[in-house]
Amino acid sequence: MLQLEEIEVRYGPIIALRDLSLKISEGQIVTVLGANGAGKTTLLRTISGLLRPTKGRIRFDSRELQRASPEEIVRLGIIQVPEGRQLFPDLTVRENLWMGSYSRRDGEITRDWERVLGYFPVLRERLSQAAGTLSGGEQQMLAIGRALMARPKLLLLDEPSLGLAPVVVQQLFRFLKELNRSEKMTILLAEQNAHMSLGIAHEGYVLETGTVQLFGSASELQRNSQVQRLYLGGRVGGDGASV
Ligand SMILES: Nc1ncnc2c1ncn2[C@@H]1O[C@H](COP(=O)(O)OP(=O)(O)OP(=O)(O)O)[C@@H](O)[C@H]1O
Ligand SMILES: [Mg+2]
Repeated sequence: MLQLEEIEVRYGPIIALRDLSLKISEGQIVTVLGANGAGKTTLLRTISGLLRPTKGRIRFDSRELQRASPEEIVRLGIIQVPEGRQLFPDLTVRENLWMGSYSRRDGEITRDWERVLGYFPVLRERLSQAAGTLSGGEQQMLAIGRALMARPKLLLLDEPSLGLAPVVVQQLFRFLKELNRSEKMTILLAEQNAHMSLGIAHEGYVLETGTVQLFGSASELQRNSQVQRLYLGGRVGGDGASV
């Protein structure tokens, strides 16, 4: 479905992604693991068209994306839930949700509205509340709900567990797994929480300083001693800690 070939992305003289190749098949959950600064956000923003690769190709359903605009990429169905949610804090839950469907022209928006509120009943109770006054977990639900209102074919999530309590992280990942199972939603999940993300993913990539260090099935990575040492064992610092 999505294929990146030998991608390079620079911030001026700094190379943030180097010779990065990655593949996601339809219906899969693929996780990209990496510490702070590994290049996860850069990778997702490149797929979304917000950053332009200086080398390499990106293909989505046989279309070339590396020169497409962010608007075109959204219209193709690649929808990103950005790091830190990036909601409109002064707008209501209702307004934030509708914002997700702004680029759609089909007649099924109302149906998706009911579907999203079915997934997240707590948002229905708070439709008139300003998004900025929701709890962290509710804000993450709203950010995902907003993305679902765009009717994604491929959902990109940038560290959704960040800053959430372990029990909320567990609920969130259970939801993502169910979304993948029941709707065959294809998901690219950037995370530092390797324990949780390998628990729901089919395949994973380990990113270090902008290059892929390891690739494998989720169960292979869970067994890998380097992954265990760096991401599953004695984790130091960061939040969203191993549960
Ligand atoms: N706008 C920018 N200008 C210059 N360098 C940048 C810029 N944005 C990111 N970088 C650098 O690119 C590298 C990758 O950053 P990126 O934000 O992609 O990492 P990340 O894996 O998402 O980290 P985190 O887990 O902390 O969110 C880092 O070294 C960072 O300093
Ligand atoms: Mg990031």
